[in-house]
This record gives sequence, structure tokens and C-alpha cells, in this order.
Amino acid sequence: LQTEALEQIEQATSLADLEKVRVAYLGKKGPITEVLRGMGKLSPEERPVIGELANKVRGAIADAIEKEKATLEEAALNERLKTETIDVTLPGRPIQVGGPHLLTQLIEEIEDLFIGMGFEVREGPEVETDYYNFEALNIPKDHPARDMQDSFYITEELLMRTHTSPVQARTMGEYKGSKPVKMICPGKVYRRDSDDATHSHQFTQIEGLYVDKNVRMSDLKGVLNQFAKQFFGPEREIRLRPSFFPFTEPSVEMDISCKVCQGEGCSVCKQTGWIEILGGGMVHPKVLEMAGYDPEVYSGFAFGMGPDRIAMLKYGVDDIRHFYTNDRRFLEQYHQA
Ligand code: PHE
Repeated sequence: LQTEALEQIEQATSLADLEKVRVAYLGKKGPITEVLRGMGKLSPEERPVIGELANKVRGAIADAIEKEKATLEEAALNERLKTETIDVTLPGRPIQVGGPHLLTQLIEEIEDLFIGMGFEVREGPEVETDYYNFEALNIPKDHPARDMQDSFYITEELLMRTHTSPVQARTMGEYKGSKPVKMICPGKVYRRDSDDATHSHQFTQIEGLYVDKNVRMSDLKGVLNQFAKQFFGPEREIRLRPSFFPFTEPSVEMDISCKVCQGEGCSVCKQTGWIEILGGGMVHPKVLEMAGYDPEVYSGFAFGMGPDRIAMLKYGVDDIRHFYTNDRRFLEQYHQA
């Protein structure tokens, strides 16, 4: 039996063949199992002799199978190495890489610019309390200015912030009326608007706040002028027009100069040669006071701008929805190499 098995093992040319031999000789229905199973019927003298013999034969066959298996596996590997060569000179498959969103790039650019003027960058929550979003900004419950910013309420006291201005109150509150504040805060804001080419229920803002002793309107103008020239180009002029916000007094809107043009794609720069960029003003004394700053000692300016609008102007994007609908054909145009 042993000789026969060893012969067959030697002749096996594949791992599958070898497995067949193993099952035939060592399997549950093989002759050796049968012998071992029949041991009970043998006499006590015969048992150890037959047992030893059967184990020896089994061992020899198992060893031979292991050896043959190793040889066959090596042969199979060598065969594969010979046939499966890799042509390293073939061009690779391009990997899809993403990049920062146009708005992210723009916000970071604006951050860098203000960091250069000594501002720190801060963040605030998008789910905001009624207090910080309105009350602390001098917009009481029945104030008509609440209509200007139709809100998504979550509960009576919680809403999606309608602007980044609550971060003004939060930062001043944190600084406890004891030191100057010079910060900008970028982030997402939400309003109950119907989406169209120029409105989105979610968009971005960048808030700016500078509170210190003797901060004046001319400081606001200087900082904004610096921003406009650095960001849009040295040939740009700015102008401030009177406006109204409950949390600034006086309030302004800022325009930058633009080339007058007509026809398609020119809608952003109207015949006047000016285009509105942001709102701002001198922080209202009540807002300072509520946040713990003595308006007799401290004064400040604040402004808020919309990166969406700025991106539309700078890159001639004609529909704000492009920023939020994730069409890669749009987004990829702005990926930097
Ligand atoms: N929060 C105002 C808005 O969303 C903008 C603003 C910010 C105005 C700071 C004045 C000062 O319209």
C-alpha cells in the first residue's frame, strides 16, 4: 500500500491531483482509516503491532504528500513569475484627485489678507441661539429687521444663524470687556430664501470686528480699502454709502469700482461703475455694552461680506447655485495644479 501510494504521489503533476491521492489514501474512507477503525476487532497482542504499522504507513504517506506539495507549489510560483511579467513602461491609470472648493480657496485667501493686518480667525456655531443671532445685536423680538433675515428656526430659542454677526457678540463676551478684539470669522449662514441665480438658502459670510480704544470710521475705511486693493487689484477704488443695520451706528455699505459694461456676463457691474461688496459700520454702543465693553472707553467697527458674491464677481460666475450643486465640470475649473 505504501509503495503504491508513494508512486502515485510522485506522479501527481498538479496540486489537485495530489489532493485526490491524499483523500484516496488518508481520507475518512481510505484504507488506513479503515484499518485503524477495525482495531477493536483485533486481539490484544495484534493491536500494538498493527497500530504501529498503520501509523508508520500513514506518516510516510503524509510526509511524501507534504514534500510533493512544496515542490508543486514552487513550480507553480516559478511558472507564474515567468508568464506574468509587468510592463513597467506602460502608462499608469490616472487617479482622481479632488481639491479645495472655490469658496474655500477664496475664504483662505481673504483670511491670509486679514491675518496680515493683525486679525485673528475665529469660528462660531451654525446652530445659534436667538440671543446671539438677534438680541445681543440690538435686534429685539419684535424688531422689523428680523424680517430682513427670514430664519430657519429649530426651536423657539434656536435657529440656523442668519449671519456671522453673532460671533461678534460671542468673541466680545469671551474677552470680557477687558482687551481689544481684532478678529474675522468665516462660516456658513442660512436664510429662508427661494433659491435662484442670486439667492441660496445657505451661503457663506466673513465677519470682521475690531474693538479697541479710539477706533474710528477712518480705520474701517482704511482696512477695507487695503482689502479691496489687495484682493481685487490696486486700480480699484472703494466708496461707502450710508445704510442701516441695528448693530452698527452709523452703518455703511461698501462698493468697489468696476468697469462698466453691457450685454451678457456684464450684469454684475451696472452702468454706475460701482458694485456692492459688503455691509459694515461702527459697532452700536448698545452692542458693546451688552457684551461687557464700556462704550465710553471702547469703540469699534464691524463688517460682513459674502464670499459667494465676491467669487461670482471675481470669476464671472453667473449662478450662485453652481457653488452648491457639486457639478464637477464647474468645480474642476478652479482646481489648482
Ligand atoms: N450681518 C450683516 C448682514 O448679514 C452684515 C453686517 C455685518 C453689517 C457687520 C454690519 C456689520 O447683512
